[in-house]
Amino acid sequence: MAKVLVVTSGKGGVGKTTSTAALGAALAHGGEKVVVIDFDVGLRNLDLVMGAERRVVFDLINVVQGDAKLNQALIRDKRMENLSLLPASQTRDKDALTEEGVARVLNELREKFDWIVCDSPAGIERGATLAMRHADVAVVVTNPEVSSVRDSDRIIGLLDSKTEKAEKGERVEKHLLLTRYDPIRAERGEMLKVDDVLEILSIPLIGIIPESEEVLRASNVGSPVTLNSPTSAPSKAYFDAVRRLKGETVEMSVPTDKKSLFGKLFGRRAA
Ligand SMILES: Nc1ncnc2c1ncn2[C@@H]1O[C@H](COP(=O)(O)OP(=O)(O)OP(=O)(O)O)[C@@H](O)[C@H]1O
Ligand SMILES: [Mg+2]
Repeated sequence: MAKVLVVTSGKGGVGKTTSTAALGAALAHGGEKVVVIDFDVGLRNLDLVMGAERRVVFDLINVVQGDAKLNQALIRDKRMENLSLLPASQTRDKDALTEEGVARVLNELREKFDWIVCDSPAGIERGATLAMRHADVAVVVTNPEVSSVRDSDRIIGLLDSKTEKAEKGERVEKHLLLTRYDPIRAERGEMLKVDDVLEILSIPLIGIIPESEEVLRASNVGSPVTLNSPTSAPSKAYFDAVRRLKGETVEMSVPTDKKSLFGKLFGRRAA
């Protein structure tokens, strides 16, 4: 059975698009057939992170409106044939995404793929609720800071009320993904600690992604970090998160890039 996974957050800029690409590629690496969908109409970032911006011809709105067939809009990844992208439109007409249209497209995708990973726009308005509407599973991306945690709390409320599953009296499976975590800064009290976040958001933790330059490096070359540097610290954390998503028990840790830590120490001493 295909699973619809929404990557959501409430607050903007916390790492949803990065995580959609990284989790999608990690799932595909494990042999699953995966499509990542950009619901961020107007901004259209996922194609950049996936390195497919020059290959976008049709998009989600074209398919929803019946101007293009799904197969015309899907972009198959050049590195992994079981990974595809359904891009967003750059038009500003967000209202073109109707609930029925999205449901129809998702149903068609369910027949072709094992995982449908939806990159949500920021906020708690229509775009975000449309992206989560048909989800079976949600990954709530949160940074270790108060405003991000508060917005995640609101999104969790919406997942429990505004989704199809919630309306049927069922539950969307919810997971917390803590991103851009810096253990040194957390220890110094400059960021919330993992336990502080878990105390406020009582949903199970699926991973801790460290703050890492590898993420920026990967996005600059148009590659999910899990493909570009699979052994880096953030990639290890994303691969572990995928194993947990699939029901495995994996011990929780905060992977670190030893090299970059040395680099930082060296850099500080030299300064
Ligand atoms: N683990 C990380 N380490 C360092 N930088 C990161 C990490 N995760 C994300 N970033 C950076 O944070 C910025 C925002 O990430 P991203 O675009 O994925 O967030 P978003 O939640 O999708 O934003 P929006 O709400 O605007 O859609 C990007 O510049 C990205 O490279
Ligand atoms: Mg985004």
